[in-house]
Amino acid sequence: MNRKNIILCGFMGCGKSTVGTLLAKKAGMSFVDLDTYIEKKENKTVSEIFAENGEAYFRQAERRAAEELSQKKGLVIAAGGGTLVYKENEEALRKTGKVVLLDIPVERVAERLKNDTTRPLLNRPDKEKAMKELYESRMPIYRAAADYTVDADNSPMKVCMDILDAVM
Ligand code: S3P
Repeated sequence: MNRKNIILCGFMGCGKSTVGTLLAKKAGMSFVDLDTYIEKKENKTVSEIFAENGEAYFRQAERRAAEELSQKKGLVIAAGGGTLVYKENEEALRKTGKVVLLDIPVERVAERLKNDTTRPLLNRPDKEKAMKELYESRMPIYRAAADYTVDADNSPMKVCMDILDAVM
């Protein structure tokens, strides 16, 4: 397989993993969820890594994962919400792939993640405020990193087809 990777980026809850799984099937590519990749390497969940080792440790593991995955081809990679925020990760992943932003309004993210407890950055009493602030600070970075942007406030299949139209 000599095809470029497709890297899905966007805010937590935008559907990177769900859409990525569908997209890989449709495109005949392999799917890798970057968070799951880290979890397997560390033998811990992302929440456990944050709680036991801290965010800085997680970011190092994320950096190594981005570097390793950028050595491969033919992958659909669901990045973590923070992955592309770090320039070195963006540069590594871009070398062998195209970046697609799954664009979604923060209100929809708030609905989707209302009862979620698996995102350590949002596991706090002022969840909605923290989410909005993080969203505002990150969207411009995602937009700058993206080769393509799709409207992710749609069904996973529609988003998947829109990505295929954009990148193929
Ligand atoms: C993070 C997003 C998460 C995960 C970690 C940190 C972030 O991934 O990597 O909790 O910094 O936005 P998802 O976007 O898949 O939830």
